[in-house]
Order: sequence, then C-alpha cells, then structure tokens
Amino acid sequence: MEKTLVLIKPDAFSKGHLGDILKRYEDEGFKVIAAKVMQMDERLAATHYAEHIGRPYYEKLVEFMTSGPIMALILGGKNVINRVREINGATNPANAEEGTIRKLYAESGSKNAVHASDSPESAKREIAIFFSELEQFGG
Ligand code: CDP
Ligand code: MG
Repeated sequence: MEKTLVLIKPDAFSKGHLGDILKRYEDEGFKVIAAKVMQMDERLAATHYAEHIGRPYYEKLVEFMTSGPIMALILGGKNVINRVREINGATNPANAEEGTIRKLYAESGSKNAVHASDSPESAKREIAIFFSELEQFGG
C-alpha cells in the first residue's frame, strides 16, 4: 500500500480542527496506519525541513512548527501521496482551491494547517523520522 506522512500543524491543532481534517482523509478512503500527538523540537523540525534550511522563511517556520502540539499521521491508500496533496490544496491558502483543507482552515502561507509528503522518496524519509516500525499498523 502507498503511504504518506501528514502533519496537522499547530495552527489547525489549536483551533480544534483535528477531527475535521482526519474525517476528510477517512472519507476520501484513506487508512490511518499510524497517529500520534507530539510537540516537535528544533532538531526534529530541522531534520524534517532539511531542504528548507537557509530559505528566508526557515526560522519562522521552525518557530511555528515547534510552537505547540501537532498530530503526525501515516495515511495509506491508492495514490495517497498525490491525492492528499490535492486535498490539502496549495501552500498559500490564497491560491488554494475551494473545499481544500488549506482553503478551509489555513490562516496564511506559513500557518497553513497541514503538511504532506511530496514524493515516494520524501514519504519514506519523513515516515522514518516520525514513526518506528512498531508504531505502524496495517501498512
Ligand atoms: O508544505 P508544502 O509542500 O506545500 O510547501 P513547501 O514549499 O515545501 O514549504 C514547506 C512549508 O514552509 C510550507 O508548508 C509553509 O509552512 C512554509 N513556507 C513559508 O512559511 N513561506 C514560504 N514562502 C514557503 C513555505
Ligand atoms: Mg513541501
């Protein structure tokens, strides 16, 4: 089964949108293979966002991602990597299509509610950052 790593970011978590977002993914037919509530530290954020180190928005991104609890998820299903990115919508909610999670719940192009892996290579790398084999079910 194809798998992807999703993060429900601190903005969506603190506004009480966990249930809405999880329901959306389940309604689309995707399976929850792993889930946990946690708070990222700077080191974890740097590992996860390694390709963004040095970008102008990087420091603010780390500050935001470590500012409160998140939910990390592994979702599984057919074409889940591309489909979840479609369901999430464009990085900046101003450019996101109607009905996408970011259009519905994101407040800005940085506080944008959700993360999802962008390729099979990213999914593999990101899943290993957040979950051990023992925390994954049915994948
Ligand atoms: O998350 P996504 O793959 O859609 O976008 P990205 O280009 O890989 O950027 C990763 C994250 O960095 C975004 O989701 C934003 O939270 C943040 N970002 C930002 O704050 N300002 C930007 N100009 C670009 C990205
Ligand atoms: Mg990305």
